[in-house]
Amino acid sequence: MLLISRLLQYTYFCKMNILVLGSGGREHVFATKISRSPLCENLYIAPGNAGTSECAQNVNISPTDFDALGKFCIENQIDLVLPGNEDPLVAGVVDYFKNNEQLQHIPVIGPSKNGAQLEGSKDFSKAFMAKYNIPTASYCTVTLNNLEEGISFLNTLNPPYVLKADGLAAGKGVLIENDLNKAIEDLKEILQGKFGKAGDKVVIEEFLQGIELSCFVLTDGESYKILPEAKDYKRIGEGDTGLNTGGMGAISPVPFANQAFLDKVENQIIIPTINGLKQEQIDYIGFIFIGLMNVDGEPKVIEYNCRMGDPETEVVIHRIESDFLELLNSVSEKKLSTFDLEVNPATSATVFLVSGGYPESFEKGFQITGLEAVVECQVYQAGTILKDEKVYTNGGRVLAITSLGKNITEAVQKSMQAAKVIDFKNKYFRTDIGKDLIHYEQI
Ligand code: AMP
Ligand code: GLY
Repeated sequence: MLLISRLLQYTYFCKMNILVLGSGGREHVFATKISRSPLCENLYIAPGNAGTSECAQNVNISPTDFDALGKFCIENQIDLVLPGNEDPLVAGVVDYFKNNEQLQHIPVIGPSKNGAQLEGSKDFSKAFMAKYNIPTASYCTVTLNNLEEGISFLNTLNPPYVLKADGLAAGKGVLIENDLNKAIEDLKEILQGKFGKAGDKVVIEEFLQGIELSCFVLTDGESYKILPEAKDYKRIGEGDTGLNTGGMGAISPVPFANQAFLDKVENQIIIPTINGLKQEQIDYIGFIFIGLMNVDGEPKVIEYNCRMGDPETEVVIHRIESDFLELLNSVSEKKLSTFDLEVNPATSATVFLVSGGYPESFEKGFQITGLEAVVECQVYQAGTILKDEKVYTNGGRVLAITSLGKNITEAVQKSMQAAKVIDFKNKYFRTDIGKDLIHYEQI
């Protein structure tokens, strides 16, 4: 009976029109999952990529052009908006919809502009953590007005020295320096505009020694669900060497994150974060991405993000077996506490194929071949574009080849197989994704 009434509900009453914002691998995962929901009627993505055009309709609107997004939502009777990256959230897309009479009925899954400061301002997030006793590196916030205080604080620290521009700086706003005099020089340069307005304030931090991992929480503002954790691989070169990238691959679950560690994360970090947001009366629904350092078994927060991670989404959301659109609805309806979240216990790996030269200069516009020959993997597309029914490279990070296996070795092997089958000029990928974690699986 329940099943029949549910089916009727899906078929006749509750079909939804959805708009996803973004154009990367993370958004291709969201679109893929939503398109599989029986609740989904029409799925749009602004602006999307070649991959998303297979499961959604790409719409040529920038995720930060709120007027154009609002108009599109009204014209297309959109029932739910899911922003992928932080830019529209930090710029206030949630507030824009809430403050417009014609749009305020449409839930946007993300925090208010105030809540997005957890990511948009390092100073805000450090002050929040200090107030709610959330473990993190000790710090000092500096402007041109208290530069001397900043230099004195640097003198109390052991190298290396961590300097963070307060605002969003396209992932480039963190400097880690070994030499004290160079750190002081960097501090002055950031305050004088090296990263533009994002560096009007600088957070100086104690360096945390340990292994990083990413934890994800989904909240409806009342309760929360913890999503699977992941580890991403940020550097361009094998063995985590070379320049930082947007992410070369990811693994989930993370074998060193045992239950005792995850309990500490929940009790010392997640619960105080959710309670702190409530206490501050910050309107926050959606994802909280907590970048953590495991320091000798103790979790410490490196950063908050107000969205899912990329490439972490490709392994974390890939493992979610529950209807993803129903999950999002339970957030907007504040019914998350009764949602039964099903997660595939298998290990997921994603390996990014990137354009040779990335993250420095690279060429794009090369045809991608072999996509149809991939077996046992899901290819989430990022920097791709469709021209005359053919897929071409259109960015640095091109394709996230994602697989499931009984352990890291098996999952990565499947992705590697596909990484060799798919081809484009100057293709590059790391062959060591997950290697550093294999020994933890044997403990
Ligand atoms: P963030 O943008 O804050 O995530 O910083 C970028 C990267 O810098 C992080 O992913 C870490 O690898 C590193 N990092 C940031 N803060 C610290 C810290 N306090 N100690 C050690 N490494 C850090
Ligand atoms: N993978 C890190 C991020 O999405 O910021």
